[in-house]
Order: sequence, then C-alpha cells, then structure tokens
Amino acid sequence: MELIEAILTRTSSGRLSPPGPTPEHLALIVKAASHAPDHGRLKPWRVIALDPAARRTFEDAVVEARRRRLPVPTAEQLEIERAKISRSPTLVVVGCVVTPDHPKVPAVEQLLAAGAAAQNLFLAAHALGYGVMWKTGPAAYETGVKAAVGLGADDHIVGIMHLGTRAT
Ligand SMILES: Cc1cc2nc3c(=O)[nH]c(=O)nc-3n(C[C@H](O)[C@H](O)[C@H](O)COP(=O)(O)O)c2cc1C
Repeated sequence: MELIEAILTRTSSGRLSPPGPTPEHLALIVKAASHAPDHGRLKPWRVIALDPAARRTFEDAVVEARRRRLPVPTAEQLEIERAKISRSPTLVVVGCVVTPDHPKVPAVEQLLAAGAAAQNLFLAAHALGYGVMWKTGPAAYETGVKAAVGLGADDHIVGIMHLGTRAT
C-alpha cells in the first residue's frame, strides 16, 4: 500500500479477530515505530510487543488497577475489564521515558516523539493489512500497569496498541 493511501484509509478497528501479525510482520511494525522523528536523538519511546507471559502480567495489572479504582469491585466488573484487554490478538505497548530537564528538548517534545512512534506503528500495521486500535484509558496512568511493562512511575504509556485482523 502506498504511504498516502495508507494515511488516507487509516481508521481504527473497534473489533479485532485472530490472527495478529506474523512474527516477521510484528518485527517490521516495531521497527517502523522506532523510525519516528526524534528531537535530540533521545529515542524516548519504548515499543513493547507483549509475548504470552508478558501479556498475562500486563492483563493482570490492568485488572488489578480496575479493582483498586472500584469502590466495591464485583467479579463481573473485573471479568469485563479482563475481556476488554485480552480479546485482541496482539498487544504492543508504546511507552515514553522522558529525560527530565533536558537542556534542549522539553518533556512535551519527547512525548510527541513517542506519539509519532505510535502513529508509525499504526500506519505500518495498517499498510501490512492489519486492524489496529490505539487505546489508553485510566489503566495507562497507573503505576502498577506501567511497572508491568518495565516503565517507571514517572514514565508514560502513550498507547496500548491492539492489533489483529479487522472485524469491524
Ligand atoms: C493517545 C490516544 C489514546 C486513545 N485512547 C482511547 C481509548 O482508551 N479508548 C478509545 O475508545 N479510543 C481511544 N483513542 C481514540 C481511538 O484510537 C480512535 O483514534 C478514535 O476512536 C477515532 O477513530 P479513528 O482512528 O477511526 O479515526 C485514543 C486515541 C489516542 C491518540
């Protein structure tokens, strides 16, 4: 798919079915993310493709974060939260590790670079024929959820990228 066509036809996929990207395509998609514009060559982004074990750790952290946000959590509410994060074939978390007080690159510009990485990822996956949904939600701001993908409390999750085969 040509670049302009990919940009102009990009839309989110609210529903995703298996399969997710092949290992070769996933590697290409992650590589595309890391070719984002980057003031100061800081490479502030972290592109974390979750393998099954990492995926389980991440899902558990998202459910736990939901449990802690609810005044009286019910098993049903927690199952709904798990279903939302577990039904996508592939998850890639895009994080941002900001270098604080950088003399030339303000924190917001580092976040913009990470956002550009997420968009590169989206467009690469779309151009390869996959469906994508860029999500965050309250869980993305929780320390425990960040920790589940190796990010610190002051780091950011800029995107929980759901990938698969477009169903809608
Ligand atoms: C940083 C970021 C976070 C987002 N988080 C969510 C989210 O948590 N849930 C959601 O439904 N949409 C979220 N969206 C919006 C969707 O990804 C999507 O862009 C939007 O629904 C518009 O649809 P479109 O991409 O087809 O134009 C987010 C978008 C961005 C850029």
